[in-house]
Amino acid sequence: MMSNPGSCDDHLDAGCSATSDAHGHRPVMLGEIVDLLAPRAGESVIDLTAGRGGHAAALAAMVGATGVLTLFDRDPANLSYACARVTATPLAPRVQPIHADFRSVGLMMPPGAPPANAVLADLGFASTQVDDPARGLAFSHDGPLDMRLDPTRGETAAQLVARLDERELADIIFHYGEDPFARRIARNIAQTRARVPISTTGQLASLVRESYGARASASRLHPATRTFMALRIAVNDELGALEGLVAAVRDAALAAASGSPTWLAAGARVAIMSFHSLEDRIVKRAFAQMIEAGWAESLTRKPVEASPTEVGANPRARSAKLRAIRLVR
Ligand SMILES: C[S@@+](CC[C@H](N)C(=O)[O-])C[C@H]1O[C@@H](n2cnc3c(N)ncnc32)[C@H](O)[C@@H]1O
Repeated sequence: MMSNPGSCDDHLDAGCSATSDAHGHRPVMLGEIVDLLAPRAGESVIDLTAGRGGHAAALAAMVGATGVLTLFDRDPANLSYACARVTATPLAPRVQPIHADFRSVGLMMPPGAPPANAVLADLGFASTQVDDPARGLAFSHDGPLDMRLDPTRGETAAQLVARLDERELADIIFHYGEDPFARRIARNIAQTRARVPISTTGQLASLVRESYGARASASRLHPATRTFMALRIAVNDELGALEGLVAAVRDAALAAASGSPTWLAAGARVAIMSFHSLEDRIVKRAFAQMIEAGWAESLTRKPVEASPTEVGANPRARSAKLRAIRLVR
């Protein structure tokens, strides 16, 4: 299921070199994250969602050559890219790339790795993943209906859409996508797949548009926006992964509070940035429990949001909510 930590070279693919530019994905709330995590020279930092390495490069510059930066990503191409980008920075820290789902962070830290002083999770996907039609994440480009963030394993969206019954599909589209037409879309999917397999993003997008009928033109968003988001969340079990991550942080916070060795250092800062209300609810509850138990203190009284200037330059930042805690011991 997961690969062991290695060097950047183990993860380099043909499309990535140490001199590649990271254009194409803008790190959201970079200044706010750096201020909250405040990594110091020589510290150990984990970026659980390395992506295109935007946040990682800034964190690497702060810990410097005596520091350690562990990078996780479930997308091997992004992990390679981020790893190469960070390694190419002047005075780069020791970089440990780990191709894994972040829910297993507690198990995956390399033996002998120093406990982390700062941890970041910037949830969701990078814009470069959505812009690649082969990944099947966007209704705006026709491509295979895939949607996996880790294209090396797991069920694709096409397989999920073929397997689930109509009611399960409707529940996913309703709960994760909050689409008022969820039942109608699921019925249309079930009727269509009885005739022909649904295997491309274009097919799914036009089927959803059809389900909206005359309301399609009145909708501010493309009618397929919510269905695609819902299926992406389901294909990648994104809420399950986040539940696993906050459980790992909670276990480490308890261990740290009881003086047992764990993957988080005393006083570690943990920041999680989410883009969906269901994700933010999971983070809010988990952090509140740790604060209530006396294992952590809050670094963000309210969730931090991107400034209007940032949202103007990067509309994806609009829905970002950033929460952070610090372990008390
Ligand atoms: C928003 S991007 C991160 C962007 C990054 N902070 C930057 O500045 O370039 C999210 C990344 O997290 C990865 N990802 C999403 N869920 C994950 C999970 N459960 N475990 C590991 N990586 C995950 C995605 O593949 C994607 O590369």
